Amino acid sequence: MLDTTHPLQAGLTADSRLVRAYGGERPETTPVWFMRQAGRSLPEYRELRVGTRMLDACLDPEMAAEITLQPVRRHGVDAGIFFSDIVVPLKLVGVDVSIEPGRGPVFARGYADAEGVAELTAIDPALLDERAAPIAEAVRRTVAELNETAPSGAESGATPLIGFAGAPFTLAAYLAEGGPSKDHLAARTLMHADPGAWRALMDWTAELTGRFLRTQVLAGTSAAQLFDSWAGALSLADYERHVAPASAKALSFVHDLSYERRLGDGSGSSTTVTRSVPVVHFGVGTGELLGAMHDIGVDTVGVDYRIPLDVAAERVGGDVPLQGNLDPALLAAPWPVLADAVRDVLRRGRSAPAHVFNLGHGVPPETDPTVLTRVVELVHEAGA
Ligand code: CP3
Repeated sequence: MLDTTHPLQAGLTADSRLVRAYGGERPETTPVWFMRQAGRSLPEYRELRVGTRMLDACLDPEMAAEITLQPVRRHGVDAGIFFSDIVVPLKLVGVDVSIEPGRGPVFARGYADAEGVAELTAIDPALLDERAAPIAEAVRRTVAELNETAPSGAESGATPLIGFAGAPFTLAAYLAEGGPSKDHLAARTLMHADPGAWRALMDWTAELTGRFLRTQVLAGTSAAQLFDSWAGALSLADYERHVAPASAKALSFVHDLSYERRLGDGSGSSTTVTRSVPVVHFGVGTGELLGAMHDIGVDTVGVDYRIPLDVAAERVGGDVPLQGNLDPALLAAPWPVLADAVRDVLRRGRSAPAHVFNLGHGVPPETDPTVLTRVVELVHEAGA
């Protein structure tokens, strides 16, 4: 059980639009946030980051909190997404990784065979906790301000913070290759060439990323998103056999974290139900994997822009809340074209029991941030 100071357990975010939608309810207004809402689309971010490397920014609690809060203040979105990166836990355990602007995570070496994987040493939970202290501190600072910040259109209330981690496959895709790649061939090869080494790599990564996610939730996030950005490179059979068990293992580190929610019956009396912290699972190009991505035990499935939400709803069985899925390319289209596309996403989102509006992948760095604010207003005005 989460402690009484946690925003979910304290009753600050349990009734927010976002948490209710992740729980399968349809609030009167559709909640909205954007993947990569923090970052280079914001001039205030670019200014703050001058002279600080990406991973140093992630490990500076004051800076990470400030960057997380910037888009919430500016756009009035229904959630903050914690400013960090999927490779931060790797850095915490001593893997030599840096983030190169315009490229992504780059490693001093690749981990593409059994010898490489054997060098990833056993995780010491106490040491990891100690090294993750700046992460927990950044979450606490962020949540302190979000508890006083209502999303646009809501008179009062707190804005929930979403924690996140990379799924084992997406991390393994970078580790095996030693950097970004187009088709993640090194990881897909290891999976078949040496299934034992592959399993060891996935097991290690699952524990590390699962503990990273747990740290964020314990420190105050009201939801958790697992990014398996590159899972779309896999066949359904390979995903189910070689990847899904590790993703489920990563999520086992947060599944025991629950809170009590008080439900009024309208007549003054109330009952209390116990809920676990909501979990979202997202990947790019995962149209064929959506059912399997739900089956590992998540509340909400994130959908990329290639597959309409009504089709996605059908593929996951019709009873699963969905998040998504405006094509980020539309953010640069003339407003009438963009507004029609937003309305189309909202209409198709009605095929799911609940819908959290988002993009089908991250905000492009060139995006005019005033357009994002306008999209938030449109989603909120459109109701549910
Ligand atoms: O607002 C948010 O969404 C929160 C922050 C966030 C970042 N990375 C910050 C970041 C999140 C959720 C991530 C996750 C992440 N990182 C993923 C999964 C999500 C996805 O996009 O599919 C992946 C695959 C990574 C790995 C990574 N880190 C990439 C591909 C890049 C981009 C490289 C580039 O410059 O184009 C990064 C760097 C990164 N992570 C930046 C930010 C704001 C840019 C760094 C900068 O500002 O210099």
